[in-house]
Order: sequence, then C-alpha cells, then structure tokens
Amino acid sequence: MDAFIIQGEKELKGEVQTSAAKNAALPILAATLLFPQKITFNNLPQISDISFFKKILESLGAKFDSNSVDTSDINKFVAEYDLVRKMRASILVLGPLLSRFKEAKVSLPGGCAIGSRPVDIHLESLRQMGAEITLEDGYINAKTNGLKGKHIYLSFPSVGATENLIMAAVWADGETIIDNAAFEPEITDLISFLKSFGVKIEGEGTRQIKIQGMKKEDFKTVENFSYSIIPDRIEAATYVIAGLITNSEITVNNCNPGHLDTVINTLKVMGAKLEVGYSSIKTFKSGRLNGTNMATSIYPGYPTDVQAQLMTLMGLSFGSSIVSEHIFENRYMHVPELNRMGMNIKLDGRNAIITGVDKIKAAPVMCTDLRASAALVLAALVAKGETKISRVYYIDRGYEKLAQKFAGLGASIERVKDV
Ligand code: EPZ
Repeated sequence: MDAFIIQGEKELKGEVQTSAAKNAALPILAATLLFPQKITFNNLPQISDISFFKKILESLGAKFDSNSVDTSDINKFVAEYDLVRKMRASILVLGPLLSRFKEAKVSLPGGCAIGSRPVDIHLESLRQMGAEITLEDGYINAKTNGLKGKHIYLSFPSVGATENLIMAAVWADGETIIDNAAFEPEITDLISFLKSFGVKIEGEGTRQIKIQGMKKEDFKTVENFSYSIIPDRIEAATYVIAGLITNSEITVNNCNPGHLDTVINTLKVMGAKLEVGYSSIKTFKSGRLNGTNMATSIYPGYPTDVQAQLMTLMGLSFGSSIVSEHIFENRYMHVPELNRMGMNIKLDGRNAIITGVDKIKAAPVMCTDLRASAALVLAALVAKGETKISRVYYIDRGYEKLAQKFAGLGASIERVKDV
C-alpha cells in the first residue's frame, strides 16, 4: 500500500484542472448497458472506481478499448460479489440490465465506512415497475417479463435509486414518472447522455422526472458517438478549500461553479475571498476565516461529499462551528485523525462541534474513506512538519492524479511505498 509524505506550511500558487465527475461517469458507464453500440468517452477520469466499474461491465461481456465501450455482446447478467464489494456503485447495473435483458443478479453491495448504504428504495421502486426481486445468499435476483412504466414516489431522493430508475425506464413499456427524485448535476448529466440516444425525458433539475419508454424497433445506432462527462464538483470544491486553508492564490479551472453555489456561499460567509468565473474559481489570500454552522443536505443543499473538507477548514478558523451530517450515519471518520494533528473537534451524534485552533502539527494519519482522506491531505498541507498519510488507495478511488495536481500547485507531496 502507498502513502503520501507531505511537508506542511507551503503556500500554493498557480492553476489546477478539474477532472470529469466520478459520480456522473459511474451511472453513465452503467447506462452504456442499455444501448448495443460502441460509445466513446472523451474524458473518463483515470481513477480506481472507474477501473473497478469497467471490470464489472467486462464481466458482463462489455468490450472496452482505450476510451470506448461496446455492450452489443452482453451475455452475462451476474455482477459477482468479489467485484461488487470493491465498487458499491455496481448496484447501478441493476436497472439497465433489467430494462434491456429482463434479468439481473447483483451482489448486495454491503455497507462501507460511511454507512450501511441500504438499497431498499432501489428494489421497492423496481418491484413497482414489474420486477420480481428476491434476496438469496447475499445476492439480488431480479427478473421481469418486461418492465412497465409507473408513477413512483421515492421515500427519500436517493441519488443512486433515481439513477437506477431512470435507466430502468428506458426500455420499460409506457411512461415512468419519478416523484421526489434526486436532481444532483450528475443525474442531469446521465439524462443528457440518455437523450443523445433519443430517449424522451423531461424534468431534469427538478424533483419530478418523466421518461417515455422506448421500443426496441425505435433504436437507431448513433454513429461515431462520443460523450464528455461534466466536471467533478466535489474535486473542484476540494481544491478551492485547499487554496483557502493554505492562504494561497490559486485558480481551479475547468469546473462548473453553478454546481457549487451552496459551498461557495458557505465559504464566503466564513470570509473567503473568491472570484467565481464561468468555468473557474480563484481563491485570494483570505487569512484565518471565521467559523460558521453547516448541515449537509440533498442537492442543492450543502453536499455531504464536501463535509470533511469544510470541517478541516473550520478546524483552523476563528471561533466555533457546528457541522450536522444528515445524509450518512457514520461520516466522521476523519475526526479522530484531525484531532491527532491538534484540531479540537467533538462529536455528539450527528453533530460535530469544532473549536478553531490557530495551528496544527504533523502526525502519522490513516485514510478511512474517500472524502475523509481528502480532508487529511488538506490538514497536512498546513500542519507544521512532515505528515505521513497511509492507505492512500482511498484517494485513488475518486481523485485523479491528486499528488501531481498538488505538486503542480507548489505543495511538497510525495507518494511512497508503505508497509
Ligand atoms: C451517491 O451515493 C454518491 N455516490 C455519494 O458519493 C454521495 O455521497 C451520495 O450520492 C449523496 O449525495 C455516487 O454517485 C457513486 P444515496 P448513493 O442513495 O447513491 C440512504 C463519494 O464520496 N438510502 O443518495 O449511494 C443511504 O443510506 C460518494 O463520491 C437508503 O436508505 O447515495 C444514505 O443515507 C460517497 N435506501 C442516503 O440515503 C436506498 O435504497 C443517501 O444515499 C438508497 C439510499
């Protein structure tokens, strides 16, 4: 396993390019199962979650070459446990497989560090569309004589369940309406991808999405089709917070600030000086910021995937801050690690009470989940001394070339072999 060695207290400068969004690329890769043709991607991020997901699609018979996939010859409908356990988002193959092939067997993804991550909303909604679903030996066995379009009310606007249902509706018979749908930008990108193949969908960006099922005879191959995934708003936010926490002037390019309104407003409330462009966000030296309160929420509220990173910034701000994590039940794994570096964060159920300190010190720390790991990198950038961050494979899951990007901004960061 590898580790990062980071010398803290370095000012950053220059520009960093945002990569394509992991959480758009994954559902869109799943959606390639719907269409029997070659599909080329212009900017798939080189991260391990994408390579894991490709392995799952290959195990079903999809053919990949450098930046394209062809699912014309899918001949298996089983997503095996030993692949699924590494890639929770593999549950997203359920909807497209059921829709196009009328059967699917997907290992129950199981929990992960941040929570139990149930899939009950996915399964209940697919049952309403006519899928027969049983759970046996840790697998979801699903089959149907053909999904039927239905009016479905989600009990919670689950991102993954919304994505699964939109894909399931593509070859369903008739119209599907999803109420209380999630509408994260990654879902809008999935819809735009599906529309490229003539799927009639309306309501993107709202809580109600309508999808007209297609007939197989209506499908026409889109010749030489290629697609560009939207920028990763979570990665962009991480680098903006890096600029602020190191009191630096950096520019995050190739991002979509419109996907980050709540994050940008929260940072400005804390005293951050930002210049928000059409596709870039520039940080100015803002000194030590002021604490504030933040509660994670469904889009367009404050994103849970930027909670750990903001908490790190709060940990070095004036005064106290309160963070409430309302999306996942165990998304504070970064707290003990940050406290080891001298932060003063106390947990009380879903709340974290952060009392700002003016400096922190390097200490050996360990990654526990993707976004907590990003928070440790941010802390190491400002800690006095040399920080060793172990198990950086967590970071490789969702941040493309993180060490190179930070080195390009002037950080002292080195990737080393770890025991
Ligand atoms: C997506 O996960 C993202 N992952 C997560 O990003 C993100 O944190 C999350 O949405 C919330 O924005 C991908 O897009 C691949 P949910 P997902 O279904 O779809 C509960 C990252 O760091 N729930 O909206 O799994 C669930 O337990 C990752 O990039 C049910 O109870 O999120 C959770 O508490 C982490 N039953 C809440 O809803 C269900 O059937 C939100 O889950 C489904 C979800």
